[in-house]
Amino acid sequence: MPEVTAAGSAAPPRVQRPSAETRWADELERLAARDRTTGARVPEGWRLSPRSVVDFVLGDAGRRDGLGLEAKFVGERALVERCVVALATDRGLMLVGEPGTAKSFLSELLAAAVSGDSTLTVQGTASTTEDAIKYSWNYALLLARGPSLDALVPAPVHRGMSEGAVVRFEEITRCPIETQDSLLSVLSDRVLVVPELADEHRVLHARRGFAVVATANIRDRGVNDMSAALKRRFNFETVHAIADVARETALVQRQSDAILAEAGITSGLPGDLTEVLVTLFGELRRGHTADGRPVEQLSTAMSTAEAVSVAVATGLASAWFTGAPPRGEDVVGAMLGSALKDSDDDRSRLRGYLTRVAKERGGRWQELYAARGLLDG
Ligand SMILES: Nc1ncnc2c1ncn2[C@@H]1O[C@H](COP(=O)(O)OP(=O)(O)O)[C@@H](O)[C@H]1O
Ligand SMILES: [Mg+2]
Repeated sequence: MPEVTAAGSAAPPRVQRPSAETRWADELERLAARDRTTGARVPEGWRLSPRSVVDFVLGDAGRRDGLGLEAKFVGERALVERCVVALATDRGLMLVGEPGTAKSFLSELLAAAVSGDSTLTVQGTASTTEDAIKYSWNYALLLARGPSLDALVPAPVHRGMSEGAVVRFEEITRCPIETQDSLLSVLSDRVLVVPELADEHRVLHARRGFAVVATANIRDRGVNDMSAALKRRFNFETVHAIADVARETALVQRQSDAILAEAGITSGLPGDLTEVLVTLFGELRRGHTADGRPVEQLSTAMSTAEAVSVAVATGLASAWFTGAPPRGEDVVGAMLGSALKDSDDDRSRLRGYLTRVAKERGGRWQELYAARGLLDG
């Protein structure tokens, strides 16, 4: 038999994006082991001590007594500590901010570290109903045997309460207010009543470890679209875009290199080009250059997440089609599809930025300036 080649490999394709608890399973184990040896206090219903949760989220690179934990969320330690405290109290945690600031990623990391499971997730949309949050029924069983626990199909909040786990509620403000408010009694009384069930199963009391982490984008719809009653039950934390160019550049380089390596591409964006990309995104996001000159902002959120996807698109296009290391014009080309979407105004704003700002700078900036024609028509 001939050897199976990579192209015709018989192995099933891997999953596109393993969840955090799978991807970093060994780190979670090492942290749990450290908690056991040091006798760190682990809150009831949690997998790890609060300090270990924070270390997992931020990583501990460069620490002398570290466990070699990969850097994941880039942000203030104090913010992550406040998030962890909120989860340990009987309040919900609400992460708000611009799109692409890693609110979802942070909530995933927290759930993975606290409960070992980040998949109890409700995705909020205009059509999310209470069934998708709490529970629904298997109608065949319901008709055959009447309401019973067997016929009940638990949704994330039911499961989180009965298992004592963190439940994620993504984009909560996209849901109708009445649907959001179905969380009120869950958050204040920590009970879920299933009126159809017999007495002993009617009231579900949340086990320790149950908590809700919600996220909301301030661009989509305001958090004003949340009832005052529900707001009171959450601690709000704003997640800001990374302010420091060097830290953001390192993050974009690390994440895009990792994604490209998965595709078998070992030569990612050169460091100086990544820095130019991140500087450009940051200046357009903030509406002014580093030295304070005003810049017209784009309607697209120029987030770190978008910068990573532009870096990846640039790397793929050069590896697959030009065969040469990525250059400034490849970045401009990649931005057309992945960042600028369909907005003609954004194209001409970016063109204006390249004409006025990039032109005056040296190095890689000249490659971007020279490619400004790609943005015409
Ligand atoms: N501060 C950050 N730390 C780590 N990754 C970040 C950060 N900001 C953005 N990212 C990148 O952006 C991606 C998408 O973020 P996501 O969690 O979907 O954002 P949001 O939910 O705020 O819209 C993350 O997976 C990560 O690659
Ligand atoms: Mg999100």
